[in-house]
Amino acid sequence: MEKIILTGDRPTGRLHIGHYVGSLRRRVELQNSGEFSEIYILIADAQALTDNADNPEKVRSNIIEVALDYLACGIDPDKSSIVIQSALPQLPELTFYYANLVTVPRLQRNPTVKSEIEMRKFGEGIPVGFFTYPISQAADITAFKATTVPVGEDQEPMLEQTREIVRKFNSVYGDTLVEPNILLSTNKACLRLPGTDGQAKMSKSLGNCIYLSDTPEEVRRKVMNMYTDPDHLKVTDPGKTEGNTVFTYLDAFCYDGCFAEFLPEYADLEELKEHYRRGGLGDVKVKKFLYSVLEETLEPIRQRRLALQKDIPAIYDILRKGTEEGSRKAASTLNEVRNAMKINYFDDADYIRRQSEEYAKQDK
Ligand code: TRP
Repeated sequence: MEKIILTGDRPTGRLHIGHYVGSLRRRVELQNSGEFSEIYILIADAQALTDNADNPEKVRSNIIEVALDYLACGIDPDKSSIVIQSALPQLPELTFYYANLVTVPRLQRNPTVKSEIEMRKFGEGIPVGFFTYPISQAADITAFKATTVPVGEDQEPMLEQTREIVRKFNSVYGDTLVEPNILLSTNKACLRLPGTDGQAKMSKSLGNCIYLSDTPEEVRRKVMNMYTDPDHLKVTDPGKTEGNTVFTYLDAFCYDGCFAEFLPEYADLEELKEHYRRGGLGDVKVKKFLYSVLEETLEPIRQRRLALQKDIPAIYDILRKGTEEGSRKAASTLNEVRNAMKINYFDDADYIRRQSEEYAKQDK
């Protein structure tokens, strides 16, 4: 079977380094592996509106930010189609059909939806569109016949729900849809990069993100203010590396050769951690090292972004072309879905002929 990637993000802000290690870096590797026959990356603006209905300007202005971040990270429009979700009417159409295959309690049990409802303090006032967005995400994934969905760990419940919908659909209407697999990072630190303040998640509303588009000064300031081990007061004190954000970031970003390049007195990260635990290694030294390691990744991304920003109409052209390609794919899947569901009234000449024969018989 052909291998097809579909993945995406809500355009509610610029992308940060949590997005990068959680999924973006992997997407670029997968794109360049040549293993996939089709790759679609969805800018999920319609999904962003499910909890930003009163703020369309925010969603609109972030489309270009997300597109610039993608391209700056190495998403290549010749290999990957960047698709604008709201431009594909096939997606809400699929959502409408899938909604008949999902129960209200099943949606209420979805852990991601549950925690988001709490976080957004909807209480009893949950918008229907928000409540049902897992169904719409199943439509996103299946419309492209995706086999592989590289996303962050928080999307696992969405994939589980999608697989259930696929199985239900195929058992009711016959084999039509493809069951997708999630592709998670194998590096534990990358699965959920904490915020710079040590909180569980990087999130714009908490103000604890390092953005891909931050200036070197911003990155330096954020690194220098980063949460470490609160009990590591003096350099000579023994310190904890577990739950120490600076070390978690090093786990996520260290690459072969970064010690030789920036901190040659240590062989590797294990040796550095060892010293910190023993005592005698100060936070500032580790933070300076982290800053250099981060900049090694961020500087080329930043430079590409600055270059791309010089021609904004060209970015919209890329989005238009990607959306057209996505639209062709979704239309072809919808054709199969309508046939399977027997709602293809005008395309089934055979059916019309048989029916007229039936009625002709009755006439006699
Ligand atoms: N829910 C994803 C997020 O919050 C965005 C998204 C929408 C998505 N549709 C998708 C991700 C389909 C993967 C596949 O970031």
